[in-house]
Amino acid sequence: MSAGSPPLKLAILTPFPEMVAAVVATSILGRAAEGVVNYRIVNLFDYADPPHNKIDDEPYGGGAGMILKPEPIFRAFDAVAESDGKPARVIFPTPDGAPFTQRHAEDLARADHLMIISGHYKGVDQRVRDALVTDEYSIGDFVLTGGELPALMMIDAVVRLREGALNSSESARTDSFSTGLLDGPHYTRPREFRGQAVPEVLISGDHGKIAAWRQERREANTRERRPDIWAQYQAAEETGPRP
Ligand code: ADE
Repeated sequence: MSAGSPPLKLAILTPFPEMVAAVVATSILGRAAEGVVNYRIVNLFDYADPPHNKIDDEPYGGGAGMILKPEPIFRAFDAVAESDGKPARVIFPTPDGAPFTQRHAEDLARADHLMIISGHYKGVDQRVRDALVTDEYSIGDFVLTGGELPALMMIDAVVRLREGALNSSESARTDSFSTGLLDGPHYTRPREFRGQAVPEVLISGDHGKIAAWRQERREANTRERRPDIWAQYQAAEETGPRP
C-alpha cells in the first residue's frame, strides 16, 4: 500500500481496547492497517496483578477519584519495547498538556514508532509521566472521561498524513492548517441546487483563476473566523515559506 516507507508502529495502551479497536478498524484508519500502520492495542488489564487485576487505586494524600497504577503501564510498555523496540515518542493525552495542533500531527507522522498511553479515571501515577512519557497534549479546554477519544483524534490526525493513507496526497496538503490557513468552500454536482448556484469561477475551466479564487477564500475564511491563525500566517509570509 504505502510506497516506500515502512508501516508506522503505533501502540495504544488502554483499559478499553474495544473502544479503540472499533475506531481504528473503520474507514481510512482501518484501510491504513494494510501496510501504512501496524496498530497494537494493548489492554492494561492484561498487565495487572492477579487475583484482583486492579489497574487503579486511591490517591496518596486523599481526594476524590481513582489513579491508574504504575505497574500495569510500565509492564505493558516493557512488553511493547521488547518485541517492537522502544517507541520514539510516548504520548499522553491530558487536559494539562500542550494544545494539539496540525504541526504536532505533522511532526509525529514522521516517527517510525509511537505509543499513546490512554489514561482514565482521575489521572495516572505521575511516575508514568516522569519516566515514560515524552509528549503531553490536550485536544481542547474541556475535560473528558478518558484519554481514548483524544488518543483516537490524534491517531486520525497522524495516520492520514502517512504516505499511502489517503487516496490523493493532494487532499492532505491543501486542507485546513496544512497551508497555514483554514480551508475554503467546496462544491460538487449539481451545478444548481434549491436556488443555490456553484460560483461561476469554478466552472470557468481557468485553472489560474480557480487557484486565485481558492486562495482568496481561504484567506478570507481565516481572517474572519480565526484572527489568531491569520496573524501567524501573515507573520510567516513576512519571514518566508514554511519548510
Ligand atoms: N483527557 C481528558 N480530557 C482531555 C483533553 N481535553 N485533552 C486530552 N486528554 C484528555
